[in-house]
Amino acid sequence: MYFNLKINAAKDELNLKPDSALVKFFIDTDKLEKNVDEFFLSLNYPLGKVQKKNFMDKKSDEFAYYSQTNEPSVIFVKKIKLDKHFSSDFFRNYFAGLVPSLKKKNLKAVHVVVPLFSEFKNYFENEGQFLQTMLEGIHLGNYTFDHYKSDKETTAELSFFIHYTDQRVLKNRIEVSDKLMSAVFFSRDLVNEPAVTLTPTELAARAKKELAKIGVKVTVFNKAELKKKKMNAILAVGGASDNPPCLITMHYKPNVKTKKKIALVGKGVCYDSGGLSLKPTSSMLEMKADMAGGAAVIGIIKAAAMLKLPIEIIGVVPAVENMVNGSSYKPGDVVIAASGKSIEVKDTDAEGRIVLADALHYASQQKPDEIIDFATLTGACVVALGEIAAGLFTQNDQIADDLLNSGKQTFERLWRMPFWRDYNDMIKSEIADVSNLGPRWGGAITAGKFLEHFVDEKIPWAHIDLAGPAIKHKLNNYTEKYDTGFGVRLMIDYLLSI
Ligand code: BES
Ligand code: ZN
Ligand code: ZN
Repeated sequence: MYFNLKINAAKDELNLKPDSALVKFFIDTDKLEKNVDEFFLSLNYPLGKVQKKNFMDKKSDEFAYYSQTNEPSVIFVKKIKLDKHFSSDFFRNYFAGLVPSLKKKNLKAVHVVVPLFSEFKNYFENEGQFLQTMLEGIHLGNYTFDHYKSDKETTAELSFFIHYTDQRVLKNRIEVSDKLMSAVFFSRDLVNEPAVTLTPTELAARAKKELAKIGVKVTVFNKAELKKKKMNAILAVGGASDNPPCLITMHYKPNVKTKKKIALVGKGVCYDSGGLSLKPTSSMLEMKADMAGGAAVIGIIKAAAMLKLPIEIIGVVPAVENMVNGSSYKPGDVVIAASGKSIEVKDTDAEGRIVLADALHYASQQKPDEIIDFATLTGACVVALGEIAAGLFTQNDQIADDLLNSGKQTFERLWRMPFWRDYNDMIKSEIADVSNLGPRWGGAITAGKFLEHFVDEKIPWAHIDLAGPAIKHKLNNYTEKYDTGFGVRLMIDYLLSI
């Protein structure tokens, strides 16, 4: 079942009806049973001993009460310990787990009693952030991708009522998270879509359809136009597929005076077989998601336009399939990128950096105030950081600090990697300006250093390698089933903080 969610702001007092659920938290108590007793009494549903015993789950400090008549159908009580294990992701993760558990319970409404912010002020930047984690969790718990299942999930109406004193802050965050999460879901859908459907042309068409209706100008350069622009790097990687490559460019320019002009670049490899340096099957399985960076950029622009952010944004997504046929680019080839720099191809599976070379050069030509790129660029970054964090590579301390902070706020976490000049020596080529392959060690960093060759050095730039956290993983309730849409929440927080 999939819920048609409506999230509403509600005042403090509770007005419960049958077919509803109630969610209540107790903080730092060692008297949960007593709290529960008192709470049920205050609701006028005194609890029997047996009921209390049956419904209490000591291990998870949770109490789920199922009633028969006239009372709310389910009451969830959860104990929160504000100890070293508590993080700002608690509510997001909790609600992302709760929402699927409500399926088949025939509920019409869920009432959430928000605990006092003052108890949590050490963990959140402000009240709004605190509320937003709950709202995001509710949305994330409702995400499904069942397009290809015969047994499709049915839809049901479900209203959430968030009970909180400050209605102004709450209403604002409900509106923001409704819009933001629709963009996260758009991005997720693109990543989860199999490559057989989501070809480069299809990715461009979907971006255009979605963004045009909210006032974003989308221009797509086809193969002939790529040739004219001498974008030989994109053409080399995309040359062995029956589905031709393209460059998707997006322009969001709000009517108000803008604070900044930012270029966002995203790797859009719709399928990465490795090319002639072919991957083993097991590694290929996830490679429909090798356009997750591009999907993040498209999602960020969708969210920014819906939220009417006062920032001009240029999006650049080189969309290709890295495949094998008679016109495959080959290890040993030299490719002259649009900037004029030559690339020695030592491994056709290091294709992301090659397509990004042309995209970053194009982005630099638009003279933005800063450039940030998103790419599922290297397995080496996943080896270094696992699936929890994306790697952050930049020479610019200000951008680094701001991005790291947004990572903390959104729990789309980043970890800054070394990016010293010394690494440049590792990608020198005998016959070209730069090699697309370094030695085995430090592979995520040399990949970043390769990209640096194609960015105008006067423009502050950061590279985010999201190969780990973009792809589904078991670390929390909202990342375990589907590819994650990583980057959209992170960047909207960053853009809002400008
Ligand atoms: N798309 C992959 C990186 C990747 C790996 C993304 C795992 C998501 C999950 C990239 O194009 C690639 O194949 N990189 C190679 C680079 C190597 C040949 C230098 C890698 O990481 O092995
Ligand atoms: Zn590859
Ligand atoms: Zn790749």
